[in-house]
Formats: sequence, C-alpha cells, structure tokens
Amino acid sequence: EDKGLKTYYQDYFPMGVAVSPYAIKGEQAELIKKNFNSMTPENVMKSGPIHPKENEYNWKDADAIAEFAKANGMRLRGHALVWHNQAPDWLYVDENGEEVSKEVLLARLKSHITEVVTRYKDVIYAWDVVNEAISDDPDEFYRDSKLYQICGEEFIARAFEYAREADPDVQLFYNDYEVINPVKREKIYKMVRGLQDAGVPIDGVGIQGHWSVFEPSEETLRATIDRFTGLGLEVQVTELDVSIYKKEHTRREKLPTDDDTFTDELKKKQIEQYDMIFKVFRENKEKLSSVTFWNVSDQYSWLDHFPVPDRKDYPLLFGEDNQPKEVYWTVVDF
Ligand code: XIL
Repeated sequence: EDKGLKTYYQDYFPMGVAVSPYAIKGEQAELIKKNFNSMTPENVMKSGPIHPKENEYNWKDADAIAEFAKANGMRLRGHALVWHNQAPDWLYVDENGEEVSKEVLLARLKSHITEVVTRYKDVIYAWDVVNEAISDDPDEFYRDSKLYQICGEEFIARAFEYAREADPDVQLFYNDYEVINPVKREKIYKMVRGLQDAGVPIDGVGIQGHWSVFEPSEETLRATIDRFTGLGLEVQVTELDVSIYKKEHTRREKLPTDDDTFTDELKKKQIEQYDMIFKVFRENKEKLSSVTFWNVSDQYSWLDHFPVPDRKDYPLLFGEDNQPKEVYWTVVDF
C-alpha cells in the first residue's frame, strides 16, 4: 500500500510541490494532500502577477493557495519577492515613461515587499527574497538585469532588510539555478558571505535543482550541498525536477531531432538519477530542511515549454495520469 511520499520521508525533510491555482482543485489536489506537506506558488506570488499596477494588487490566486495550505496543515514557501523575470513593467518607469532613479526603485521594492510579506505573515514560513541575481556568464558577477542596471548590487541587501522589517520571524532565502556549476556556485557563495559579513538578514540558500538524467553527478551534488551548508545557513532544494533532455541553456527552438518519447532507456536513467539524488539528500538530512518539486506530475511541467516550446518532458515522480511512476517506488524504497 502506498503511504504517500511525505510519510516515507517524515523523518527526513518536508516534501514540497510547486502549485498553480488549477492544481489545488480536482485530481491533483488529492495527489498533493496525500504526498506533500509543503507548497510553493509556482507563479501567483511573483511581482508581475501579484502586483500588476503600482496601486493594484491581485491577491485572489495567492490567497487561494494560502488558504489551501492552511486548510490542509501544509507549510508554505513564498516565491519570489525580487526577480528580474515576471516583474511588472511599471516597476522601472515613471508616469512619463522615463526610467526611475535608484531611490524610487528601492522605495517601490520596499513597498512591494512590505505589502506581500505582511499579508502572508501567518502562513508563509520562508520567502525566496531574491531570485537569480548572479550571472551565468563566467566573466560577469551579477546578472545584468534592469534591477542591477538601476540599483547596482544594493537592491539585494535592501530586499532582505525590507523583508525582515515586515516579518521578524520568517526565514529569508537567496534562490538560484545552475549552482552545480562550480563557477556560478562560488559567485553565489561569495555574494552570500558578503551579505552575512555586512549583517544583512539572510537565513538560507535555495538550490533550485532543475537537473536532468545527465547531471549532476553524485560528487558534484555532494560538493554543492557541502559548500552552501558551510555558510552556516539553512539549505533547501526549492525547485527539483529531472528532465529527460540535456540542458542546453541557450537553445530556444525545437529541432526536428528532438524526440518527445520517454524511452525505456530514459526511464532507466531517470530512475538511477533520482535514486542517487535522494540517497544523497537522505544522507544530508541534517543539512537540508526541505525538498520541493517544481510541479505536481508529468501531466503538466513548465519544462513542456521551457527552454524549448512544445517539447514534452517527464521530469517528476508522478505520471501524465497523476499516478506514481516506477521512479516513485525507487525514491520511497530505502
Ligand atoms: C517558472 C514557472 O514554472 C513557469 O510557469 C513560468 O512561465 C516561468 O517561471 N526558476 C524559478 C521559477 O525560480 O520561478 C521558474 O518558474 C522556473 C525557474
């Protein structure tokens, strides 16, 4: 009999899942209640969706997810206060369409962070305060985003301070992807160290975990977890999925050679990869305080559209029919 993912892992860490409003209704809602004890809103708490105009917030979808979490006794991770993607256009420009000054942008970020953090104070226990501020380019430190262009690196420290002011008890995270890449990992380590040295209130680092059947290796995964726990902070895996495709971060087009079929060979590779990943996670249970999957089942994954449009992926533990895949049984068998 299937006890549900969260029960098998009850002595290890909370099991989380990224959800959209549709997922908390119907069949997926049942799957979520049985298997997960933590949730992250996939999109609806990002600044664009939740704060479409300077004087207008759209709380409806975010409230529904917060209510579902409360009603079912689940933890809720907030995602994400400051991110260069899915941010509203108004954030960077004044009423004449001119780019705002650093002071104005920081004041807007402060107001946004204060409103959103305050509203969900009673239910959210951890926030991704800043998401993906480090560059993928080995020759560049910070990502050259609008935020960075207007504020320089200062927006990062200020964002953590504003969040702390709004809620003294919530855990504050820096979250990023491709942290298995040693060059990017070291930049993140250095930035977080700098924040700690400057007395900025940061509690944790989020390892997104958008991986594949080809990476990371066991050695790289261990090195990544060790490096961040060496900061003396909380470490969480915030957006886990194991794609069947090689990661090609610059490719945006579907090629005729792309094959959407989940072959037996790929199924086997995925089982081995998930088996290794969860073995390492379990061995690090004192260091990892949460593991969250990015989406519920292969019925829908953001990877069906990213980085390549209309290419079906099969990155999760539950299948297109919302039933446990063979890989699920490997992950819960230890
Ligand atoms: C993704 C969502 O899953 C998609 O629905 C959306 O179109 C784009 O964003 N890193 C993050 C997440 O921190 O917020 C992203 O979520 C996936 C990559």
